[in-house]
Amino acid sequence: MTTTPTSTLNTATGATHAAILGIGAYRPSRVIPNSEVVEAIDSSDEWIQQRSGIKQRRWATAEETVQVMSVAAARSALEHAGVDARQIDAVVVATVTHMLQTPAVATAIAHELGTDQAAAFDISAACAGFCHGVALASDMVRGGSAGHVLVIGVERLSDLTDVGDRGTAFIFADGAGAAVVGPSDAPGIGPVVWGSDGEQFDLIRQREDWRDVLASDQPVMPHLVMQGNPVFRWASYAMAKIGQQALDRAGITVDELDCFVPHQANMRIIDAMARAMKLPDTVRIARDIAEQGNTSAASIPLALDRMIAEGDARSGDTALLIAFGAGLAYAAQVVTVP
Ligand code: UT7
Repeated sequence: MTTTPTSTLNTATGATHAAILGIGAYRPSRVIPNSEVVEAIDSSDEWIQQRSGIKQRRWATAEETVQVMSVAAARSALEHAGVDARQIDAVVVATVTHMLQTPAVATAIAHELGTDQAAAFDISAACAGFCHGVALASDMVRGGSAGHVLVIGVERLSDLTDVGDRGTAFIFADGAGAAVVGPSDAPGIGPVVWGSDGEQFDLIRQREDWRDVLASDQPVMPHLVMQGNPVFRWASYAMAKIGQQALDRAGITVDELDCFVPHQANMRIIDAMARAMKLPDTVRIARDIAEQGNTSAASIPLALDRMIAEGDARSGDTALLIAFGAGLAYAAQVVTVP
């Protein structure tokens, strides 16, 4: 049925192009080497390095809350972008470890940063959350619903990790990364390729829902559980195709790509994707996982921040971002490095 409007509405129009204008990161102070996690899971430093590439990870202290880490990462992204907090019209926080069901942590972060009552909301897309946020921000800036958007990926996965679980205890970690997305003279964020495969909903999940936990005589934290190997196989092969589609949609060939910044889940997945996409040796690849572990929604901005700091990603470089995780959910886009 076609609705005939009784009056004509104004619609918003935004900037012609959007880009990431600045990146920031916060790494928690506690460095946890493999030697500190192996005993509880009957593992070894050698096994963990061989199977995942992880040498150490960062776990937050009690003071390093989701909000504290987010505000620190956001402040450095704003500084990098040369944008004042009052210019931010929307704060989008990708996280699965803000432990209050409501309200969204984004409103507290927006307030602490000193935005002028920016729109603020959380999104739940697990490890793919940051790329979902960048896609939304790009559309918001171009659609006219925001001038500048702050996208934050933040996790305290140590709160939801069972230190005795062999499948996850050595992988998950904490941290925050942020990006300021705003108007730009040239296109700086390519079309997103995103999707989900809910048939694989149970492969990575919180073990039980809170009502089932509370119904138990002896409630225990409903930790994250993961069937690692099927996720590994899915990520290594299916995600390379998604990365290629993101390149195609942006009109970029692998020879024109400067940086590859995949979700930092496992070094072997990173290598398998790079091989499957036939990335030339000239493409610099993010390998933050070795020092930082898997920080879910925070992993891509943390990895990109390190590449920028170490000179592996330079302003104007073309970078492919690709993220995947619980849901299963995924998202990829090509961006210009700020
Ligand atoms: O961020 C969201 C997305 N997440 C991911 O992408 C994670 C994807 N998955 C992975 O990274 C990998 O599956 C893991 C690193 C978690 C595991 O590596 P894997 O090569 O898939 O190992 P596996 O589970 O197939 O286990 C291989 C062997 C088994 O022994 P047998 O049956 O071959 O004798 C396991 O019992 O390794 C054993 N094993 C361990 N040994 C030492 C499993 N976990 C451990 C451990 N330490 N922690």
